[in-house]
Amino acid sequence: MKGNIKPLTQRSAWKALTTHYQKVKGLHLRKLFANDPKRGERLTVEAVGLFLDYSKNRITGQTLGLLLRLAEESGLREQIDAMFRGEKINTTESRPALHMALRAPKNAVIVVDGRNVVPEVHAVLDKMAVFANRVRRGQWRGHTDKRIRNVINIGIGGSDLGPVMAYEALKHYSERSMTFRFISNVDGIDFLEATRDLDPAETLFIVSSKTFTTLETMTNARSARDWLIRRLKGDKEAVAKHFVAVSTNAGRVSEFGIDTANMFGFWDWVGGRYSMDSAIGLSTMLAIGPDNFRAMLKGFREMDEHFRTAPFERNLPVLMGLLSIWHNNFFGAQTVAVLPYEQYLKRFPAYLQQLAMESNGKRVTLDGVAVDYDTSPVYWGEPGTNGQHSFYQLIHQGSRLIPCDFIAFTRTLTSLGRHHDILLANVFAQAEALAFGKTAAEVKAEGTPDWLMPHRVFEGNRPSNLLLADRLTPETLGKLVALYEHNVFTQGAIWHIDPFDQWGVELGKVLAQRIIPELEGKTLLRLRHDSSTNNLIRRCRKRSGRY
Ligand code: F6P
Repeated sequence: MKGNIKPLTQRSAWKALTTHYQKVKGLHLRKLFANDPKRGERLTVEAVGLFLDYSKNRITGQTLGLLLRLAEESGLREQIDAMFRGEKINTTESRPALHMALRAPKNAVIVVDGRNVVPEVHAVLDKMAVFANRVRRGQWRGHTDKRIRNVINIGIGGSDLGPVMAYEALKHYSERSMTFRFISNVDGIDFLEATRDLDPAETLFIVSSKTFTTLETMTNARSARDWLIRRLKGDKEAVAKHFVAVSTNAGRVSEFGIDTANMFGFWDWVGGRYSMDSAIGLSTMLAIGPDNFRAMLKGFREMDEHFRTAPFERNLPVLMGLLSIWHNNFFGAQTVAVLPYEQYLKRFPAYLQQLAMESNGKRVTLDGVAVDYDTSPVYWGEPGTNGQHSFYQLIHQGSRLIPCDFIAFTRTLTSLGRHHDILLANVFAQAEALAFGKTAAEVKAEGTPDWLMPHRVFEGNRPSNLLLADRLTPETLGKLVALYEHNVFTQGAIWHIDPFDQWGVELGKVLAQRIIPELEGKTLLRLRHDSSTNNLIRRCRKRSGRY
């Protein structure tokens, strides 16, 4: 699509939306609902077991029509097809973005550079399953023949956030006799706290890194190797039974000392933040078992198919992406709050932050031209109901507009008295309160004194989506993640940016490499940074007794 698409603000649907926005920006959800008693039933979509109520967004039928036209004019259909065909849509890295191949059925044919990649995907999945079963059954044993009881994934970014989120989300299905931990931060505390109470003889490390060069991961992996060898009486042979790798870089894996027979591969057409269903999910498979992992892949696949084939007006990721654009680009909403009313999804917002913000945090188009509109909003959130007692005040009465995605499940995994009904009552109540607020007349009727009135009035008209599924299963999680992957893609496609590169993270990495010897060196090197950075380095050296 590069080059043959009009700049966003010159597309006719965009111009029409700009005019339309002026007409509808003052409309209140109270009025929209009052004028259309069936709105709450009409503006809903159900697909692949996920129910989306988007009626509490500040839209009319015309808004929706224009947004759908914008999707067409932006070539969204062609861009979806190009992605699924394996075209090199990640143009700045000259790669396809083919995470959908990770969950393709065995008989699918997806060709990259003249080769069908599906058999390779399934070969890795099978290898993961054999390994996971051996560990889970106590057949893969540690160097001293002890059973593996602890699994630690070492990785960062996409090699950590997906695995942590999936482990937490699917804990209900996990092997409870095993301990799963995740080390990501180069801050040694992360390593020390994760290992302090573990027996190395019972511990397996999965070093997960697409590149196998990431500073944080390699530093942690080396510390893990030292910890293991030191605690197993200096026996270097121990590494073979206690370390496996997940990477695309076999050379680096064997340089580190891990036999490539114990390496689980993936491919450069899988972006880090789109890799939790590749071998990067090995810790997930070890926790929940191969069958549950395959059920999760099935969920992903169903959402892929829905995204690829459903008409846009009934297409969940497309609708969510368009609504996000509406609030972001027209109402000027700077952030999106993702609020799962499901404790197991507590790391879902953190996972989404990388997915959305590393993907769409871009300031130039695919043609290298600076954008004259906002791209990705900031994604953030916490599980309900905790957020209600923390930041919801700002969402209800603050000066900023914060669209919310509520996520809830009709059934709980572990029933405990009335908890689940209370939880659901809260999520519905929050969406209702945000949309409709409380008018001055209602506040007055409660006998509120005049001076207190402005504080007690809830303006309402705060938009939200409500996603409802039956139960949080591996399959549902797959659907949910794929929903957001494609929602993010939809937004990137309309903004005409490359959602699959991440050049913005490079500069800091390079500068850190330069500063490390300046901090560590026995003598102070000549510092050539700005005066602030130079001063900070000098201060740290001095305070830590280096000169
Ligand atoms: O720093 C950004 C990043 O490149 C992410 O995109 C990626 O998920 C993460 O680092 C980890 O990279 P790797 O898997 O190569 O260690």
